[in-house]
Amino acid sequence: MDKEKNRGFPSVKKSLNLFKKAEELLPGGAQLLSRCPVRYAYGVSPIFAERAKGARFWDIDGNEYIDMTMGINSAILGYCDPDVDRAMMEQIEKSTIFSILHPIEVELAEELVQVIPCAQMVRFGKSGGEADAVAVRIARGFTGRDKVVFCGYHGWHDWYIAANLESPDILNRHLVPNVPTTGVPKCLRGTAIPFEYNDLSSLKEVLERNQGEVACVIMEASRTYLPQKGFLGGVKELTHKHGALLIFDEVNTGFRLALGGAQEFFGVTPDMALFGKDIANGYPLTAVVGRRDVMEASREMFISSTFWDDNATLAAGLACIKKIRTQNVIRHIWKMGERYVMEMRRLAYRMGVNAEIHGLPCMTSVVFEYEDRSFVNQLNTLYCQELVRGGIFAGAPGYFIVSFAHQEEEIDKILVASEQALMVVKKAVDQGSVDGYLQAEQSKPLFDKRMV
Ligand SMILES: Cc1ncc(COP(=O)(O)O)c(C=O)c1O
Repeated sequence: MDKEKNRGFPSVKKSLNLFKKAEELLPGGAQLLSRCPVRYAYGVSPIFAERAKGARFWDIDGNEYIDMTMGINSAILGYCDPDVDRAMMEQIEKSTIFSILHPIEVELAEELVQVIPCAQMVRFGKSGGEADAVAVRIARGFTGRDKVVFCGYHGWHDWYIAANLESPDILNRHLVPNVPTTGVPKCLRGTAIPFEYNDLSSLKEVLERNQGEVACVIMEASRTYLPQKGFLGGVKELTHKHGALLIFDEVNTGFRLALGGAQEFFGVTPDMALFGKDIANGYPLTAVVGRRDVMEASREMFISSTFWDDNATLAAGLACIKKIRTQNVIRHIWKMGERYVMEMRRLAYRMGVNAEIHGLPCMTSVVFEYEDRSFVNQLNTLYCQELVRGGIFAGAPGYFIVSFAHQEEEIDKILVASEQALMVVKKAVDQGSVDGYLQAEQSKPLFDKRMV
């Protein structure tokens, strides 16, 4: 960034102009809700990237940023990791797609079976939501039951969004507020039922109320909060007592908490699990893994797609997992994350800002703890805006998804910018409003309540 820009915010004029065109051509302007500019500090945050390397990216206005969200939790090794990209390029030179199979599929499956506790067989796919849908189809087919009990976020497919057919606020605590059910068949009403995280009695109640009808319990083993002692083991016991399968959605936790995912980290092995995001360092690859008898049953179900075994991403996945396994990647991201969490807690305390750093050190978020929800949303946007001033890009509220490319130097810079940003937040808190501080557009909810 040049000196002129450093005095205030980097100019994002080109980004803002291009986004106007994007909105005319792409409904909502983006394919992933988390990439919608309203999720950041609209008017100040960059919108279009030009290139990325390591823990940094450059936007189309020529500004450089240290990235705290890393391709929405996908680039665990850092952008354009040389080892993963080399493996992928070597495969592209041999062709990524064939009319027949390629051995790399077997090789990657073998690697996953070795590192993931519940994995005896593997199916590949492309996106997390799709992998969720595959796992649910297998569970329904295996058990001959229709209902799904869930906790957490599991993508965009009908089986999951159907939860809101019962009441439009069901997914508020699991996904985002006011998720519309437009386009979801009404006949699915009552087939996706939530339970509360860290509350075994809520799971027990749901399973008893739907006795003999539940195919599976699908959940994120941990996200913002950690499981209380005995919670995950209790979930497994209850699920099995009711003849259902336990599925861990490890799209966020896989290869990050531990090589074998949350199931290895917390010591609870589910019947099936699904992995995405970090699995191929951001290249589109997912895996549904599980018990042999359950996975074998999917032979009798129609689950099939042309690009699920495209060999370039399989090569990327293999290289990525090997690198995570052999180069202490997980130890590094935890170490960097622990330093960040410790310093951030100290900063917030010193400044008198009510902020908690939630989650595990390898993926955290800053949560401002004030009663008024809409003020908290404003503070989130303000914080995000002020980080941009310091050359740091983070989603609101201050997510930090640590990667192997975040070294001490990047953490130092993030902490300096965070301190400045918290100072501005503190001023807004003291005056009881963000007026005069918030220059970005106030972030809007993704869905308008009237649409539901
Ligand atoms: C736990 C979890 N499951 C599923 C998904 C959906 O993955 P995708 O966006 O690749 O479809 C996500 C996305 O963030 C996720 O966090």
